[in-house]
Amino acid sequence: MKPKDFKPQFSWEERQPVISDGLLTVPQYYEGHETFTFPGWEIFPEKRPVCIEYCSGNGSWLTHRAKSDKERNWVGVEMRFDRVRKIWAKRHNLDLSNLFVVWGEAQTFTRHYISSHSVAEVFINFPDPWPKKRHEKHRLMKPEFLQELGRILEIGGKVTFVTDDRDYLLWTINHFLADKSFVSTYPDPFYIEEMGDYGSSYFDTLWRDLGRKIHYTQFYPMPCSS
Ligand SMILES: C[S@@+](CC[C@H](N)C(=O)[O-])C[C@H]1O[C@@H](n2cnc3c(N)ncnc32)[C@H](O)[C@@H]1O
Repeated sequence: MKPKDFKPQFSWEERQPVISDGLLTVPQYYEGHETFTFPGWEIFPEKRPVCIEYCSGNGSWLTHRAKSDKERNWVGVEMRFDRVRKIWAKRHNLDLSNLFVVWGEAQTFTRHYISSHSVAEVFINFPDPWPKKRHEKHRLMKPEFLQELGRILEIGGKVTFVTDDRDYLLWTINHFLADKSFVSTYPDPFYIEEMGDYGSSYFDTLWRDLGRKIHYTQFYPMPCSS
């Protein structure tokens, strides 16, 4: 299977949510999300704890995890079509029935499609840092997204955020701390710089080869918050 074997099923004008061949398309600038019945994690052949990676890029970290950890079901969320179809092709070629791909925007998918307390773990690896002050509004880790993460995580669940960008790291940590419904796994300064056998991604390799430090932060919902 090659990435180009995945073709969008409709034109922009006819856009609608659709599930086909291990992939959900979540249209943007679309009003009808609530009219679509997403079956939830029944989409997986086996009922297992569900982990989501947002901003999956070409899916190298995700497919490696899905291949090495078959005791859990994995969901990759990516909004760029060229990258989504690379993940989709890897899913097929590696025969990963425990991997489901979402072509869509993270906040939109989460808000409209994921039920509360249904996700065991969330991973966000090298999301776009939007370093210019005037572009900060495009960052994913905004208070409204954190609120959604708090809603979808199961009790005992956690969010791991990885970045080379120190400014985005501190910005994200501050938003988690301000949210009050999350607790940090790590003591002050709330991040670590190595995480054993975490795995690598395209951007992880890229930044490490350039000598950049990688930061890992992790938060979990306060046990009594829901
Ligand atoms: C810097 S790349 C990192 C890719 C991958 N995680 C890695 O480490 O190689 C960031 C990715 O996040 C995707 N992305 C950015 N904002 C997103 C959003 N709101 N929803 C879904 N994907 C998003 C981009 O399209 C891009 O592929």
